[in-house]
Amino acid sequence: MPIEAPRRAPLFQSVAGESRSSRSVTFSFNGEALSVPPGISVAAALLMSGIERFRATPVSESPRAPYCMMGVCFECLVSIDGVPNRQSCLIDVVDGMQVRSQEGARDLQFEVPSVSVLEVQP
Ligand code: FES
Repeated sequence: MPIEAPRRAPLFQSVAGESRSSRSVTFSFNGEALSVPPGISVAAALLMSGIERFRATPVSESPRAPYCMMGVCFECLVSIDGVPNRQSCLIDVVDGMQVRSQEGARDLQFEVPSVSVLEVQP
């Protein structure tokens, strides 16, 4: 008599199955309002909405989009609620989130320290 393996929950769930949910999450990408099913990452939400360009490289300004969807490649960087360099594949999309494409290198915000003059005593 053959032994049956125990049934397990599927490792992945289809986005199509989630879209049957009556609930949705509304967020914006570059000012455009988008609506997606809840419980998915920002990257999945953008891809599901037809967005294919998430950022531009700092040197050649080549377009980039998610590649690994698991936090390894950093191709999915976007600005979320004003914070640059967020890995959109690792962050769940939530209502009211403001996502922007990341163009080139991020701004470095720091103050230049004042330079004090040292006097050398002989
Ligand atoms: S898609 Fe690779 S780190 Fe996000």
